[in-house]
Amino acid sequence: MTIAADRISYEDLYGRWEVSAWSAARLDFTEDARQWREELTGDERRAVYRLIALFLWGEDAVADGLSPYIDAAPREEQKYILAAQQSDEARHAVMFARFSREVIGDGATDVAGTLESVRADLTWSYDVVFGRLREIGAELRADPSPAKLASAVALYHFVIEAGLAQPGQHFLHGFLERRDVLPGLREGIERIMLDEHRHIGGGVKLLADLNREDPESLPAVGELLRDVLPPATALLMGRDKDITYVESLGFSMEEMAGYGARAIENALVAAGITLEQLAIPTLPPDLTPEERGARAVELTRVGVIGPPSDDPPRDGQHMAAVFDALRRSVRPDHGLKRPTTLLWRFEDADPWHLTIADGDAAAAAGAPERPTLTFRCRYADWIDVMAGRRDLVRLLAARRLRAKGDLRLLVRLGRVFAP
Ligand SMILES: [Fe+2]
Ligand SMILES: [Fe+2]
Repeated sequence: MTIAADRISYEDLYGRWEVSAWSAARLDFTEDARQWREELTGDERRAVYRLIALFLWGEDAVADGLSPYIDAAPREEQKYILAAQQSDEARHAVMFARFSREVIGDGATDVAGTLESVRADLTWSYDVVFGRLREIGAELRADPSPAKLASAVALYHFVIEAGLAQPGQHFLHGFLERRDVLPGLREGIERIMLDEHRHIGGGVKLLADLNREDPESLPAVGELLRDVLPPATALLMGRDKDITYVESLGFSMEEMAGYGARAIENALVAAGITLEQLAIPTLPPDLTPEERGARAVELTRVGVIGPPSDDPPRDGQHMAAVFDALRRSVRPDHGLKRPTTLLWRFEDADPWHLTIADGDAAAAAGAPERPTLTFRCRYADWIDVMAGRRDLVRLLAARRLRAKGDLRLLVRLGRVFAP
């Protein structure tokens, strides 16, 4: 099969890297510093600051994190491309550190001080996703196999670069252009966008090669994406749970998630991998990437993915998203012989039910007359069960969740729903 990755060569990627070098040290931030003080609104400053904190820590983490990839890459040409990329990531970190120091004025004297000054503005999702990047680097040192490298590339080049960095740069750049402010940052972001585009191309090429060489690569990539994509969706959600601050820059978190979902899917297809092959519940192939992005943000607001929500929204739209996620997690080999209806009578929200019949699972609002099994609990507790934060059996034992009806079904639920 011919795939887009076949049109990419390591020689071409290397040649493009050589001619695209630029200087982060020489960017002029004088006008940026003046505009930051005199022209940006408080909301704009707060939103840009939060994005800069994530970019700075992100670039620093990927600059540091690429070394085990270089060691594990089987071919010399691949090692050179990754080594070249590592120098780019250092340059990107320098650009954001300079902006933080010279424009925001963090008072630091070195990069470590600058990193520390914005540490409090990192997000729950940042810690999860970049914590995984550190772990996978250590795993790759212990096991430099093609399949392990494939999953590491899926995290670095596909989730972090295509799914998070590229959309963040795209929307931040759109704001700087529309508002015609911060010319130094704008020039830096434009250079970085070109570099990242090339990095993602290198990741696509590398993953396509690994996938052809080792049949274990595809399941390893699937497992990584299954684990990391849900928390990654919440990258911009601050520790205060606010996701609307980005709107002062003229975009929404839904748009960012949709853009990221499309970028990841495009990169996977270019590497010769389809969503059907991966079969990940959070990447349903029947939805467009924009629909998947919007749905993921709804699940983030409710707390099914991302950090827990103390007070999950209970309106019809959000509950529909929750039960749609539950419906999609029913395994094709659920093993239920007869049509089965599960009903949730929430103490603090409207009832919803799920009907499973053969290969079909449907969710709807309301309480049908003769459900097979009825749960009674708080809505937030059920969200915690779905998110994997609480165990169903423990909730039953603590009588925070009560079940009525065919109780034999309880023990089989673990086989009905995918984890
Ligand atoms: Fe970068
Ligand atoms: Fe990069």
